[in-house]
Amino acid sequence: SNPTGAAYTRAELEVLAEVLRRHPHVWVMTDDMYEHLLYDGFEFSTIAEVEPALKPRTLTVNGCSKTYAMTGWRVGFGGGPADLIKGMFNMQGQATAGVSTISQAAAAAALDGPQEFVKTNAEAYRQRRDMVVEMLNAAPGITCHKPEGAFYVFPNLAGCLGKTSKGGRKIETDTDFVQALLEEKRVACVQGTAYGMSPYMRISYATDTASLTEACGRIQEFCRELA
Ligand SMILES: Cc1ncc(COP(=O)(O)O)c(C=O)c1O
Repeated sequence: SNPTGAAYTRAELEVLAEVLRRHPHVWVMTDDMYEHLLYDGFEFSTIAEVEPALKPRTLTVNGCSKTYAMTGWRVGFGGGPADLIKGMFNMQGQATAGVSTISQAAAAAALDGPQEFVKTNAEAYRQRRDMVVEMLNAAPGITCHKPEGAFYVFPNLAGCLGKTSKGGRKIETDTDFVQALLEEKRVACVQGTAYGMSPYMRISYATDTASLTEACGRIQEFCRELA
């Protein structure tokens, strides 16, 4: 998931599927973008495979952006019932005329080429996740769950609220926290409110280890200085 990095287990998907089976008018769109960025042996499952009865009303989407670090190439793809795909095709054809041929060739090379680096990449992300989670949990007032996948952490800031930053800013909400952190320590995070969940913030660890260490050090300092 973006923003939490959480992933659904097969058992969780089975329970969701059971509810969905009872509501046949509901369609399902599953965004499996982080399928290959999973850690600690977490096993990927997707709802149409967990409950094939949902297949006729499930759209499964994915893309090259995360697995192959190809965000700028703008290639996504989906699988679903033929009628739905035909409708999507008609709409896409009128709206954008399709993905550029260069991007299509790049995506084919990524998907058909050697896949070893996908694992190497995921291992690098896992190390960064562990480092970021450990450093955030060492910051007074922050508690951070270790997520199963993607490249985000979503720490809880409850212990920082009601305090005042070194620069004199009152921290009443997660928005106050990220604003003060940006202005006083030049570290950019996204407030949980933007995703409908407070008091949290989202940190992306899709950057180099040195920058992450520096950023987490500044977050620790910011929290230590809260009074
Ligand atoms: C869950 C999820 N799906 C899709 C996307 C979008 O990917 P794209 O770069 O192909 O627009 C993102 C990017 O942040 C994402 O987090």
